[in-house]
Amino acid sequence: MTPEADHRGRPGPSTGDAGAPQVTVDGVAVTARTGQTVAGLLVSAGRTSWRSTRGGGRPRGLFCGIGVCFDCLVEVNGVPDVRACQRLVADGDDIRTAPRPRPAAPGGPAGDGTRTGEA
Ligand code: FES
Repeated sequence: MTPEADHRGRPGPSTGDAGAPQVTVDGVAVTARTGQTVAGLLVSAGRTSWRSTRGGGRPRGLFCGIGVCFDCLVEVNGVPDVRACQRLVADGDDIRTAPRPRPAAPGGPAGDGTRTGEA
């Protein structure tokens, strides 16, 4: 394991990263670090929460960090409900923390990107 690798042996963040992924977060251009997760990118930018629960509007962001709790959901390249803690940033990613409104399901109201059953 190199000094730059994380505990799993994946390449870690590096400085002077010539191939650093260029992404957008909510439409704002951001340079990520190679090997960084979406959650890592958001936290390193000072974000502690990036969505809220439907019922109570309580903030959600990085909680378990291991893909279990689903608190860290974001939209990446139009794909909703991506776990930010599990998704490595890739060059060109369009990351949305505020979910776009979803079309109404037959017989139901339009969704807001949060899971049902959340308090
Ligand atoms: S922080 Fe728990 S699934 Fe991502």
